[in-house]
Order: sequence, then structure tokens, then C-alpha cells
Amino acid sequence: MNLDIEKLRAETPGISEGIHLLASGSALMPQPVIDAVINHTKLEARLGGYEAQAQMAGMLENVYDVVAAHLGSDRREIALTENATVAWCQAFYALPFKPGTRILTCEAEYAANYVAFLQRAKKDDLDIDVVPSDASGAVDLEALETMIDDRVGLIAMTWIPTNGGLVNPAAEVGRIAKKHNVTYLLDACQAVGQMPVDVGAIGCDFLSATGRKFLRGPRGSGFLYVARKWLETLEPVMIDHFAAPWVAKDKYQLRDDARRFETWENSYALRAGLGAAVEYAAALGLAAIQNRVWKLASTCRDMLKQLPGAKIRDIGAQQCAIVSFTIDGLEPRETVAVLRQQGIAIGASDPSSTRLDAEARKLPVVMRVAPHYYNTEHDLEQFIQAVRRLL
Ligand SMILES: Cc1ncc(COP(=O)(O)O)c(C=O)c1O
Repeated sequence: MNLDIEKLRAETPGISEGIHLLASGSALMPQPVIDAVINHTKLEARLGGYEAQAQMAGMLENVYDVVAAHLGSDRREIALTENATVAWCQAFYALPFKPGTRILTCEAEYAANYVAFLQRAKKDDLDIDVVPSDASGAVDLEALETMIDDRVGLIAMTWIPTNGGLVNPAAEVGRIAKKHNVTYLLDACQAVGQMPVDVGAIGCDFLSATGRKFLRGPRGSGFLYVARKWLETLEPVMIDHFAAPWVAKDKYQLRDDARRFETWENSYALRAGLGAAVEYAAALGLAAIQNRVWKLASTCRDMLKQLPGAKIRDIGAQQCAIVSFTIDGLEPRETVAVLRQQGIAIGASDPSSTRLDAEARKLPVVMRVAPHYYNTEHDLEQFIQAVRRLL
């Protein structure tokens, strides 16, 4: 399906404020998402929070169906969370590991996940083993397979890192995990909303994601997919009386769905916004979105290469909609601040966000541009001209 870019831009009020090129940070919300959040908030103001929830119960329940359909899962396998990190941590910290268990991860792993590995390694006497990258920069599948032994309890990987263009082979990793019967936790934070996601094809046990990035949802929204087989056995590391009703004086009973990873109190306005965002993306088609955003990113790389002193810092055989680069003589954070004053939003990414990859490649702070489908080549030209003026 071809995207009607003019219509999509008209449905994005933020477009009139400037040029936003940071979908990998927090993208511009479309009008239906804004309406969903504001309408629910207004209803809460009019009726009261509990009453608004009761009135909109059908719509709020439907968010689980919408997210499940987006991932090709069952609604019972979805927990709604406040961000991707909470979703990821809920799964990771719940997994029981014997001392000496090995966790396999990738060089592009995100900081939030890696510090959690470090904490559990210290507390539970686990080993963290990093699978090397292949020549393209993606996780080396052969190395991954040879590293698996009886002590490996988890493969935890980032599909698309926070910067660097890379798309890790998530489904191939899933096939290896399945073959060796190893649990597989996938960080899909930067992938959802940017490309099709099918948990069946990936073969992961858990998948975490956020609402605000390529999905164009509100900040403070995210979700966790928990494969059905875990719903009978996995005990969350913390529970409340929603996750596990108090059924007798000395007894609680865990819910039989992924909502055992939720708590009683939530932002229903943000959930309404998340549901609207996922519906919006689904109506456009994720393949069409991927096609558009990857093309814009590729054009952006070509334009940047024309600038003196510009270095594209991306890796991977196929490169996604996140473009990382440096330009000799331009300090990334200052450049981001100056461009922001001119109404152009890009980002800067610190080596500590992806320390293993950054150290291996001796990366400095890099600048990050992530166009969404509502951006145009003209936006990219304006951005390049603004940078050229700084040189
Ligand atoms: C690869 C990756 N994983 C996880 C996260 C964390 O997402 P959240 O801020 O929604 O918790 C990010 C955020 O930038 C990310 O880039």
C-alpha cells in the first residue's frame, strides 16, 4: 500500500512546529493518538477516574487485542507496561537461574538491559557471555550456536540497537534458541512501529517494546509479550492483588495471563493512546512503513556523505531508519542544541548507551537522525542545509 504522505502529515500537528527527525527518541503523535489520550483524560475529569475506566472498559480491553494482533500473538500473552524497560525487566528478573547459568547477549545490547545482567550476575552468580559480531556488525549466528552449552539459560538480544542502523537477525536467533531449547528474550523497542513484528516467526519467549518511538504512541506506554507456555510457570518478581488476587488468608493465586506482570493502578489515558497508535500503524501497514522509513534513512545517509568531515557510523548488512553519524568539527550535543533552536529535532547518543559496541568501534558521542514516514526529502534537505551552515 502506498502511504498518503500529505494526509499523514495533515494528521500530525507537530509537523507545523518544525522538522522532527527523531522517531528513535520519541516520535510525533498523530491526531487520533492525541485525541485518545485527551478524551480519556477529559472523561476522567468529568466523571472521575474509576467511572471513566468503567465507561470505556470495552475500548480499554480492546488495547490488548490490538497489541496482540500487531505481534501475531494471543491477547492473553500481552501485558501493558509503562515503558519497554519495565516490560523487559519484568520478564528478565522473573526467570529463575541456577548459579553458574550463562546469559548470551550481543555486542549491540542496550545499557538498561546490560546493567540488569550485571546486577543479576552479581546477585545470582551468573555469567554474561557476549556473542561476537560478524563482519557486517550483526550478531554472529555461527558463533552463537557454538557458544551454547548446558549452562546457557538465556539468549537476550536487542533487535535494533538504540543507534547504528543495525538490524539483528532476530528470527534466525529464534531458530537457534528453539533448536537448543534456550529461553529467548528479545528487546524490540526500536523495531515496533518501524517494521512488521511476528512473534511466531521470531520464536521468542518474551518481547519488550515501547509506545513512544516508531509506534508514535504517548510517552509512558509500553508492552510485554509472554509466550503462552510461561503463563503457567513464571512467577513475577513482584506482585500485587491484581497480578495475584488474595484468595484466602494465607494464599494468593497468580492470574493465568500475562497481566500477572501488571499492577492494579495504571494510566488508562496512555493505554488508550497506545491502542490508537497501534491501530493507526496497522491501518497503514508495517511493510509500507518500513519501506518508506528505510528509504528516507538511506537518502539521509547519502546526503550526509556529501558533507565535509561527515562519517556515517552505521553497521549491518541491511540498515534501518536510525542513522548515526559524526561530523569533524561539530560537537554532537552542541549541534543538537543549536538545531533544536532552529526547529530541527535530532538526537545525540552516548557511548554508554551501547558500551560494548561503542568501545569495540571506538565510537565517540554520535548524532542520531531517525526519520518517520511523515518526514519528506525536503525535511532532510533542510536539515542538511542547517548543518552545512554550522561548518
Ligand atoms: C534498544 C532499546 N531498548 C530499550 C530501550 C528502553 O525503552 P524505554 O525508555 O521505553 O524503557 C531503548 C530506549 O531508547 C532502546 O533504544
